[in-house]
Amino acid sequence: MDDARALATAMARSGIAADLMVIDDLARSPGAVPDAPVYIIAEPQGVATAAAWRAIARPASLRRTIVWGPNVTAGDIVALDNLGIGYVTKAGPRLDPLLRLIGVIDADYLAASRMRVTEAKAVAHSVFQATAAAFEMFGSMPTFDRDFYAGLSQDFSRQVETTPLYLLIDAISRNQDTTIQHCSLVTTVAVAFASHLGLSGREVSRLFTAAFFHDIGKSAIPKSVIDKPGRLTEDETRLMRSHVTVGHEILSRYPETAGEVAEVALHHHEMLDGSGYPQGLRGTEISDLIRIVTICDIFAALIERRSYKEPLPAREAYDIIVGMGPKLDQDLVGAFESVAFSVA
Ligand SMILES: [Fe+2]
Ligand SMILES: [Fe+2]
Repeated sequence: MDDARALATAMARSGIAADLMVIDDLARSPGAVPDAPVYIIAEPQGVATAAAWRAIARPASLRRTIVWGPNVTAGDIVALDNLGIGYVTKAGPRLDPLLRLIGVIDADYLAASRMRVTEAKAVAHSVFQATAAAFEMFGSMPTFDRDFYAGLSQDFSRQVETTPLYLLIDAISRNQDTTIQHCSLVTTVAVAFASHLGLSGREVSRLFTAAFFHDIGKSAIPKSVIDKPGRLTEDETRLMRSHVTVGHEILSRYPETAGEVAEVALHHHEMLDGSGYPQGLRGTEISDLIRIVTICDIFAALIERRSYKEPLPAREAYDIIVGMGPKLDQDLVGAFESVAFSVA
């Protein structure tokens, strides 16, 4: 599984979308093998796994399979060929041989993936320009530092250029304009709050990333549920709530977002009194970073227009947050007042 994770990360860095699947899981639910342009088995040798794969794969899928392993021997290559898998490459830090093989199996797929990367980077870039412009919203705050805010956004934009983070932004922005706007607003509010609290540059930039990706799991929720004008049914609510675990899973795949940032995605709907989800954490189990994002998230959701509600004025939104009492960190809520009131 570690080989597979390393490969998925390396491929994302090369701009190729990759999903991780466990063959045992697929074998348990027949019909679950998804259509894919190329299948890659990432294992030290790959022969045993390839045999299990052969038992469930369609012949066309088998012809689109590559084994990628660090210890593949000449004998393994013969054994794999006997199983109907003629594409084998030695695993290493350089992906060129693997990408060449993918190009042989499906040149269109490789070209389309590269095009997607270019487009995704352009989207990421425009999202950050919008986030930087939104900082002006806090122009009246005494702690507002235009250059600092613009610098943060540029740093993040650079990070997005050189890491797979652009794939995450692309994932949300492709099907959900409401979510991408929400994430931008939460980020802006969180950064304004952080500089009001006097957090260090490093802490603010951590908060920037955590706030931006807190709802990444919504990329897996259908737009019809996200933008549903009426009340959600019980099943829809359950699906909607799954965005926290899905987000945690996605963010844990990348070293840039694994750990703290992924934890914020998992826990930003927890409440200090234990009434939140998914784990009903309480008090000190909830870190400061999560507490800050939670307050900014609720505030942003209240002042946004959604398909099922009008935007609230900032003061009314702040009153609602105060009214949530023991659910939120009231010291932080008190400090948040001047941030909330500086929103025009
Ligand atoms: Fe959320
Ligand atoms: Fe949110």
